[in-house]
Amino acid sequence: MDILNVVLLALFACGSFAIRVPKHEYIKSMEKDENFLFKGKRWVVLVSGSSGWSNYRHQADICHAYQIVKANGIPEENIITMMVDDIAYNQNNPTPGKIVNRPGGPDVYEGVVIDYKGIDVNSTNFLNILKGNKTGMRNIGSGKVIEGGPHDRVFINFVDHGTTGLLAFPDDYLYADQLNNALKYMFGSSSYRKMLLYIEACHAGSMFDGILQDNTDILAVTASGPRENSYGCYCRYEPYGTCLGDLFSVTWMEDLDATVSNCEKRTVFNDFKEVRTNVTRSNVMIYGDFNIGHEKLSAFIGYQKSNNELITNSKSGELIKKTSISSRNIHENTLQYQISDKKQSKDMAKMHELSLELRHNNKMRLIIDTVFRKIYSMVVKSRPDIKEKIGDLDDPEHLNLTLDIFPCYRSILNKISQTCFSLPRNPYVLDRLTIFANLCVVDKQIHQMVSNAVDVACSDIPKSINNVF
Ligand SMILES: *[C@@H]1O[C@H](CO)[C@@H](O)[C@H](O)[C@H]1NC(C)=O
Ligand SMILES: *[C@@H]1O[C@H](CO)[C@@H](O)[C@H](O)[C@H]1NC(C)=O
Ligand SMILES: *[C@@H]1O[C@H](CO)[C@@H](O)[C@H](O)[C@H]1NC(C)=O
Ligand SMILES: *[C@@H]1O[C@H](CO)[C@@H](O)[C@H](O)[C@H]1NC(C)=O
Repeated sequence: MDILNVVLLALFACGSFAIRVPKHEYIKSMEKDENFLFKGKRWVVLVSGSSGWSNYRHQADICHAYQIVKANGIPEENIITMMVDDIAYNQNNPTPGKIVNRPGGPDVYEGVVIDYKGIDVNSTNFLNILKGNKTGMRNIGSGKVIEGGPHDRVFINFVDHGTTGLLAFPDDYLYADQLNNALKYMFGSSSYRKMLLYIEACHAGSMFDGILQDNTDILAVTASGPRENSYGCYCRYEPYGTCLGDLFSVTWMEDLDATVSNCEKRTVFNDFKEVRTNVTRSNVMIYGDFNIGHEKLSAFIGYQKSNNELITNSKSGELIKKTSISSRNIHENTLQYQISDKKQSKDMAKMHELSLELRHNNKMRLIIDTVFRKIYSMVVKSRPDIKEKIGDLDDPEHLNLTLDIFPCYRSILNKISQTCFSLPRNPYVLDRLTIFANLCVVDKQIHQMVSNAVDVACSDIPKSINNVF
């Protein structure tokens, strides 16, 4: 039996007559002794939830994070990675087999052990990994899950697209209520002592704002607030032509790479403040249990005593800012770069093909917009009372989300995916989904009526609308 249990048992045994010292006071005083505290394990979950060349940056960020935690001494068996793995050997990659996270940076792909690739990168698997559901992951990828205990620390770094109340995977969505339920399950089954989440996505704050409780030993740091986009950075670099990183991710990681010496002592709050100041395009936010902010960051991600080769050049802070673009525009930007690149190298056939792709994408955007406009106008026609509350399709109101709207929200989005086109496979739709969350905030039963409108709006649309950005 370990010392903590002996003490707690002693406390329990004499509790009926001795002075009652609150349990957490005991634990707090013990925490001052780092060695005593740290008999737990550290678990790290790294997820890049997108696919395709124009999303290069997400897998680059996650590979970089892997290099950091690996160098910091987190054992391989405690790191769980999910990434589609279609970038290193992508036909567009000018340096096959290598991924960089900044211009001229080192290869961050080398040595990365990927537990879940390809179609295994989805929300069901992610939630089973968090919940330690080994049965659920049998015969899938490496089968690795968080097998945490009451002394363990968990760090989750998720990088991807997102919008109001959800994070995207290539073929499905992870909704805020699902993530929150998994976190509650973990809390209930004592599978961690403290947990820290770093989430990079548009509207990432909406996964936690008003939703994550402040008494479950979890702190979430997000790249953006509930109502704003996050930003890609190191964009338009030859010969890549797409963004090599994301602003929030690159900022926290380069900062760590550059300041190894005081890394051991830095608290989560120190890190948050530094990153929040340096990420100027969006508001880096925190949610949940602020006590975790006083913990050392190294308690979650480990630390190393000597420098590694990822050390950043001093100018990169400026570069990051100059070359950042809203995540929503990166695909179009990447295509335009490729078109002008092919034009320069006089590869006219390829240039023509890419131009057609761009034109097709714009055409499909119009079809998607028409569908959403039809649904919207049918709904507000039969419910004129709600129009003012939800706002316009192009300019939705920003309403606060609560856990009980999600069955309705999910039902509407599933219905559209089944009847019209797959929402997850068309990242263009992400900015358009807020209005459906709003409908559910105003009326949690509205999905039944919306379902009929969807049937009508999608009765005669082209079959395969796919990959529209
Ligand atoms: C996720 O992937 C697993 C296989 O890895 C599959 O069994 C499951 O149905 C998938 N879930 C979704 C929502 O696609
Ligand atoms: C574990 O996974 C199995 C199979 O997917 C599922 O039936 C079960 O509900 C999961 N358990 C938990 C706690 O999520
Ligand atoms: C953050 O900003 C400060 C002040 O502008 C600067 O000195 C520092 O180098 C920046 N750090 C990073 C990681 O960009
Ligand atoms: C929405 O939440 C914010 C803070 O999370 C709060 O200040 C605001 O009053 C809330 N708005 C409504 C309409 O409840």
